[in-house]
Amino acid sequence: MTPAAAPSASSQPDVLPEGILLRVDGLKTHFGTGNRTAKAVDGVTFSLPRGRTVAVVGESGSGKSVTSLSIMGLIAPPGRIAGGRILHRDREGRVRDLARLTNADFRHIRGPEIAMIFQEPMTSLNPLMTVGEQIGEMIALHERISRGDLRRRVVELLKKVEIPAAESRADDYPHQMSGGMRQRAMIAMALACTPQLLIADEPTTALDVTIQAQILELMRRLQADMGMSMLFITHNLGVVAEIAHEVVVMYAGRVVEQAPAETLFGRPSHPYTRALLASTPDPDRDIAADGSRRPLAAIPGFVPSITNLPPGCAFAPRCPLAAQACRESPPELTTVAPGHVARCIRMEAA
Ligand SMILES: Nc1ncnc2c1ncn2[C@@H]1O[C@H](COP(=O)(O)OP(=O)(O)OP(=O)(O)O)[C@@H](O)[C@H]1O
Ligand SMILES: [Mg+2]
Repeated sequence: MTPAAAPSASSQPDVLPEGILLRVDGLKTHFGTGNRTAKAVDGVTFSLPRGRTVAVVGESGSGKSVTSLSIMGLIAPPGRIAGGRILHRDREGRVRDLARLTNADFRHIRGPEIAMIFQEPMTSLNPLMTVGEQIGEMIALHERISRGDLRRRVVELLKKVEIPAAESRADDYPHQMSGGMRQRAMIAMALACTPQLLIADEPTTALDVTIQAQILELMRRLQADMGMSMLFITHNLGVVAEIAHEVVVMYAGRVVEQAPAETLFGRPSHPYTRALLASTPDPDRDIAADGSRRPLAAIPGFVPSITNLPPGCAFAPRCPLAAQACRESPPELTTVAPGHVARCIRMEAA
C-alpha cells in the first residue's frame, strides 16, 4: 500500500491529470468557530473523470450535500472552506481552484460549466413563473438570444427530458405538474446551458420507485448522450448500482473509499463499505429458495457527532476489525489497487 494523496497546500500548482474534470483535494468545509466547530467536510479527496458518473454515498450527515455545495460555491457564513482545493478544468482547458473563486467568478461557472439538481424540486422552482419562463431565464442569463429562438430552445429541452406535449407544458406553472414531471423540468433547467458537470443531490429520493427508475434511466441516457460528467449523491446503494461508474463512500465528513462501481460491489475494502453493503436489502441474497428470510445486518452503534469525533478512525467505535492503533490516530487514504483507494489500516485483516 502507498499513500494515495499528498497533503494539500495552497502553494501547490493547480494541475489536473488529463481526463480528470474535477479533483477535490483535502477539502475542509467547517461551520462555526472554536470548540463548537462542526467539521462537516474534513479532508475530502476524490477525482471525477470526464464523461463518467461518480456516486457519493454515505449515511445522513456524512457531508455529501456540504461537499456539493462547496463545489458550487454556495457555502455561506457561518460556513467556510477552511482548507483544501477544488481543482476544475473549464471548457477552455483552464484549471482553476474553485475554493478560491469569488461570487462574481462563479457566475460563469454555475450553468455553463457546472449545474446542480436539488432533491426537492418545489424548493428550487419559482411557483410564480411558468416552467418555460424559468428555463428560458437560465439560458438568457448566459447568452443573447431572440424570443423566438429562446422559446424553441425551451421546448427542445423539455422534449429532451421526455416531457410529453412539451409545447403546451412549457406554459405550466410548477404546481400543475406531477412530482416526476417537475423533476424532469429541473433536469431541463440544469441542462439549459449544456454543463460539463451535473451535480445531482438525491434527485430521486422524493419520488416513488417507478418514477425514480424512469428518472434514473433518463439521467443515465442524457449523461451518455451529452458526454457530461455527473456527480450523483445518494444514500441508496441500489441507485448507485444503476447509475455509477465510480463510487465515493463518505463517513463523518471524510472519504473512506473510492473505487470503480464493480470493484466496490465485488471487492469492497473498507469495513464501513462492507457493512453498508450487508445492510442493503438484496432479494437474491436475503430470501432463500424455501421463502425463509435472512435478517438484515444493521450497522451497530451510531454515526458520531461531527463536533465530537473520536481521535482515531471515526468508524472505529462501530468497526468489527478495530484495533488499538485505529483508536489512536486517523488513518490515511491509501491505494488498494490502481483507481481504488481506502482509508483503513485493518482492511487486510478481513
Ligand atoms: N448551515 C449549516 N450549519 C451548521 N451545520 C451544518 C450546516 N449545513 C450542514 N451542517 C452539518 O454538516 C453535516 C453534514 O451535512 P450534509 O447536509 O452534508 O449531510 P448529508 O450527507 O448531505 O446528509 P443527508 O443524507 O441527510 O442529506 C451535518 O452534521 C450537518 O448538520
Ligand atoms: Mg444531503
